[in-house]
Amino acid sequence: MIKFGVFRLEGKVTIITGGASGIGASTARIFHENGAKVIIADIQDKVGQKIAHKLGEDVSYIHCDVMQEDDVAKLVDTTVHRHGKLDIMYNNAGVIDRKHGGIFDVTKFDLDKVVGVNVMDAFWGAKHATRVMIPKKNGCILFTSSATTNVAGLSTHSYASSKCAVLGLVRNLAVVELGKHGITVNCVAPYIVATGISGARVPAKAIEILTTSWANLKGRVLKADDIAMAVLYLASDDANYVSGLNLVVDGGYSFVNPSMLN
Ligand SMILES: NC(=O)c1ccc[n+]([C@@H]2O[C@H](COP(=O)([O-])OP(=O)(O)OC[C@H]3O[C@@H](n4cnc5c(N)ncnc54)[C@H](O)[C@@H]3O)[C@@H](O)[C@H]2O)c1
Repeated sequence: MIKFGVFRLEGKVTIITGGASGIGASTARIFHENGAKVIIADIQDKVGQKIAHKLGEDVSYIHCDVMQEDDVAKLVDTTVHRHGKLDIMYNNAGVIDRKHGGIFDVTKFDLDKVVGVNVMDAFWGAKHATRVMIPKKNGCILFTSSATTNVAGLSTHSYASSKCAVLGLVRNLAVVELGKHGITVNCVAPYIVATGISGARVPAKAIEILTTSWANLKGRVLKADDIAMAVLYLASDDANYVSGLNLVVDGGYSFVNPSMLN
């Protein structure tokens, strides 16, 4: 395929976990349009393969359950074997609880699943990307946190805790460990986006209310592509000296003082 235009990730090798749906799938397409070689990693094999096939050249799919460290290690090794390097690791896979509720409603099953997927994705992804990036003294590690890292009450306790854990890892890694190796570490923090994560459990009407009436920025609806464009910025050389950032994409939602609204 002949490509025209500006390619902000020309020749960069990237992994996107949770790349078979929502924000990850949008990012895979936008990274590809910007000249990156993209590995989509997910547990939804058929959908992931279909997306990779549709995008075509330089995009492939690898099955990876981010809760399994061996899967993540193999994902990174296969990528380096196939493309010779790993430039950008985007740890984006995530899940929410089956139902909302208070602290008495928390079950071990939900905690294992929500904290398990969201936090292990971040840890195993960072650990194995770092393993191949440190010797090169270069690299970019990205995560999807959430607006819940900035404002209380947007989600369940377990989901909010899992995303605050991701942010803690980002800051600790960026400041304490990886800066000296020339590796940047950042995350994007989305407000509510209608994707697979919400679609399966929250009625469409509720999503519409959350994304319009509740939103601070009126007349626009946050889309997966908007998050992907923020990720593209952090992945590109435009963010060359940016590290330790939680880039909140919420239209100002988490900074609004409700008492100032009429
Ligand atoms: N949609 C929102 O409103 C919203 C808001 C803030 C943060 N986020 C975060 O954005 C990220 C992407 O979510 P999304 O909204 O695109 O939802 P999504 O459900 O469309 O995509 C999530 C992807 O993660 C994959 N996944 C789940 N468990 C996995 C596992 N064990 N191993 C590998 N892949 C796994 C799913 O198969 C899916 O393809 C998540 O981390 C989510 O927490 C979403």
